[in-house]
Amino acid sequence: MKKLRISLPLLAAAATYGAAVRADEAPIGVFDSGLGGLTVLERLLDVDQVNNATGLYGPDGVPDLARESFVYLGDQANMPYGDYAAEGKSDYLRELILKDAKFLLSTNYYTRVEEQEPSGVKQRVKIIVIACNTATAWGLDDVRRYLASIGSDIKVVGVIEAGVRAALDQISATPDSPPFAIGVMATPGTIASGAYARTIRTELKVRGVTSNIPILNQGCAGLADAVEAGLPSADTIASSNLVALVTQHRASGSTVPIKAVILGCTHYPFVLGALNRTVAELRAQGAPLAADFRFVDPAFYTAAECHRLLRDAGRLSTAKKQASAMAFLSVANPNLPQECLTPDGQLTRKFKYGRTIGSDAVTTIPVPFTRERFGEATFANIRRLLPRTALLLERNGKQ
Ligand code: DGL
Repeated sequence: MKKLRISLPLLAAAATYGAAVRADEAPIGVFDSGLGGLTVLERLLDVDQVNNATGLYGPDGVPDLARESFVYLGDQANMPYGDYAAEGKSDYLRELILKDAKFLLSTNYYTRVEEQEPSGVKQRVKIIVIACNTATAWGLDDVRRYLASIGSDIKVVGVIEAGVRAALDQISATPDSPPFAIGVMATPGTIASGAYARTIRTELKVRGVTSNIPILNQGCAGLADAVEAGLPSADTIASSNLVALVTQHRASGSTVPIKAVILGCTHYPFVLGALNRTVAELRAQGAPLAADFRFVDPAFYTAAECHRLLRDAGRLSTAKKQASAMAFLSVANPNLPQECLTPDGQLTRKFKYGRTIGSDAVTTIPVPFTRERFGEATFANIRRLLPRTALLLERNGKQ
């Protein structure tokens, strides 16, 4: 995946960082519904805007978070998060998101799903990165409210604001910009929340853009699950959704060029190759795509924001150690009644989306991520697109 260019506002923010006042060796917590958040972890591992030795702005070839440790949670047993809204279960999704955050804040974990009591010990995280658009859309405020309610000063970073700021920076959206349209590809749940459209409108206003900017929302049903499962159909689903987004724009009668499409789901950078090929095909057919059209991945701005918050709070690690990660993926509780589980031990769709809030029943359990749980194709993809992450995961698997 391409590195995004750094925008001027981001540079300015970086230049005004205060000096670190105290170190914090606790890990950075990152969660997603599955593997998509690894695309954000990769940016956390390679973001480099600051000279680590002097603290001044300017890349120094050493990632800004090079000394940090990470705890990653993929709530795979409960995904797709993007389908809960359509099933009328957004309240259950909000509960799951809060549970994800609480797991990152806890100090114990089950080393194996069969364990009666959690025997694993881990550190409580010092910041939470919600590396999932759907979870940001539905749960960011809940997680912040929860932390405030327990008197915690732990910060929470989401991906949606980052995605919008990245897109508008890269488009150079100003009051004088020639007319343009902007697209969002996301899960049906994220689109249903209206979070992207709302944030884009707010941020356009902040930048003084008062003209009517068409926002093209495309809910991509089935795309995140296909990526998660490493299915070849992911490319086709991605491509047909991009075509649908452009068709939607044309059908509105607008001829304004589309300048950017935000990849509003952290799984979608995995299908960027197919999306770029589709752009070339659409261009050949005369689609209204700007000459400098681009896909925008919120991950880079999210990583930069996480670094800025830690730096401002004086909570960056100062230990002389390499970045490391402990990773967890949730699995279905194998002791559930047989009718709740598929033959390969996953929650049936009916059971998954039939659960209700407020129950003590343990239906899924986060356990250490092991390399064996992934087919060669999926891991090869992670290694190709997210090399730093792949290295950490392979080490994690051996712990
Ligand atoms: N990766 C998640 C996101 O960014 C969604 C995948 C899912 O539907 O679970 O929205």
